Amino acid sequence: MTLRGGRGVKSGKRKAQGRERKGEGGRIEGRPGQNGRGIEPKSCIDHNNDMATLDILKRPVRDLRISVTDRCNYRCTYCMPRDEYTWIDRAKILSFEEIERIVRLFLLLGVDKIRLTGGEPLLRKDLEKLIGRLVSLDGLKDLSLTTNGASLAEKAEALAWAGLRRINVSLDTLSPEKFRQLTKRGNLQDVLSGIFAAQKAGLNPVKINAVILRGTNDDEIIDLVQFARQHGLEMRFIEYMDVGNANSWSLEKTVPKKEILQTVHSRFPLAEVGRRDGHAPAVDYRFLDGGGNIGIIGSVTEPFCSSCTRARLTADGRLVTCLFAQQGYDLKKPMRGGASDEWICEAIASVWSRRQDRYSDLRWETIHSTGAYQPRAHKKIEMITLGG
Ligand SMILES: C[S@@+](CC[C@H](N)C(=O)[O-])C[C@H]1O[C@@H](n2cnc3c(N)ncnc32)[C@H](O)[C@@H]1O
Ligand code: SF4
Repeated sequence: MTLRGGRGVKSGKRKAQGRERKGEGGRIEGRPGQNGRGIEPKSCIDHNNDMATLDILKRPVRDLRISVTDRCNYRCTYCMPRDEYTWIDRAKILSFEEIERIVRLFLLLGVDKIRLTGGEPLLRKDLEKLIGRLVSLDGLKDLSLTTNGASLAEKAEALAWAGLRRINVSLDTLSPEKFRQLTKRGNLQDVLSGIFAAQKAGLNPVKINAVILRGTNDDEIIDLVQFARQHGLEMRFIEYMDVGNANSWSLEKTVPKKEILQTVHSRFPLAEVGRRDGHAPAVDYRFLDGGGNIGIIGSVTEPFCSSCTRARLTADGRLVTCLFAQQGYDLKKPMRGGASDEWICEAIASVWSRRQDRYSDLRWETIHSTGAYQPRAHKKIEMITLGG
C-alpha cells in the first residue's frame, strides 16, 4: 500500500515516519472513532489511478465541507439550536495546520472540492491564511466559502488576495425588518455591502443562498431573483430542512423545489441545465433571456442521496458522512496522538467505505408512506457544528 501524489504527500510521508515511532507509546490504540465501533484501516487510494474510495452505495468521496468554527454572530431561526448548545472548547478546534493535513489526505482519496463553512467562517481569525495554505494543494480544483456576509465588506479583498475565487453569501430577504427577525442580530445593509465588496474584489461567481420558508419569505422569490439579475449574482434557493434538533421544522413550512421553480419560471422562463458535475446539491437552470443562472436545492422533496459525494469535517475534527448524521468519527484524537498520514488516510477510507447514509431519501419515503415523519425522533448533529 502506498501513498502517492504530489508535493504535500511526500513531505507528509517523511513527517509521518517520525510521528509513528513517537506514537507507538500507546496513544491511539489503533482505533479512531467515537461510536465504539472500531475502524479497521483498509487501503489508501491513489485517485490518479481512478480507484476512488466508494461507500456501500457505490458513491465516491468528492467534496469536503469544513466547519472552521461553530461560533456565529447571527441566530437564524431555521439554523441555530433553540435548546441548550455547548460551544466546542477552543482547545479542541482544529488548527490551520491540522485542517491542511486532513485536506491533503482527502485529496488523495479523490476529493477535489472544498467548501469552508461553519458556524460563521469569517469569525475564524486569519481565515485568509488557511485559504492561502489550501489553494496551493495538489489536486484541489475548487475552493469555496459560505458566509452570512456580516463582515464580508472588510474581508473580501483579503480573501480574494489569498486565492479564493468564488463565494456564497446567505441572504433570505431584502426587507431590513424581516432580515432582523430571521437572523435575530443581523443588519441587512452589512450583508449587501459585503456582497458588493466581494464582487469588487473579483470573486466570481458570487452566489446568493436563500432558504425559503412558507409564510416568511416565500413572497420574495421574484424580488430576490430580480436583485440577483440586476447585480450579476447567481441565486441559490434552498428548501427548508430539518437540520439539527430544534429549529421547529415542519413539512408545511418547506416550500417545495417545484413550487419555487414554477414561481420563477412564470416570471422569467427557464431551461434546466442539471446538476454541476452530476452530483452538486443544486439543480441549475438558465434564464432563456440570457440573464444568467439560478440553482434550486430540493433536499426534502427531491432528495439526491444516491448522488451525494460529500463528507463533512466538524471544527473539532470529526468526520461526518451525512448532513443528518447523529455522530462523527474523531480524526483529531489520533492526529494529536501522533498517527501517521497513512494511518489517518486509511481510517478515512474505512469510514467512507462503510457509509450507507440516505437520510433524505428515507425521510421522503416515510412522509409518503405514513405521513408520520418525526424530525425530533432522530437526534442529529447541529448544522453549526457540522457545517452547512
Ligand atoms: C449553516 S450556514 C453556515 C455558513 C454561514 N454562517 C451562512 O449562513 O452562510 C450554511 C448554509 O446553510 C443554510 N441553512 C441553515 N439552516 C438551514 C435549514 N434549516 N435548511 C436549509 N438550509 C439551511 C444557510 O442558509 C446557509 O446558506
Ligand atoms: S445560517 Fe449561518 S448565519 Fe445563520 S445562524 Fe446558521 S451559521 Fe449562523
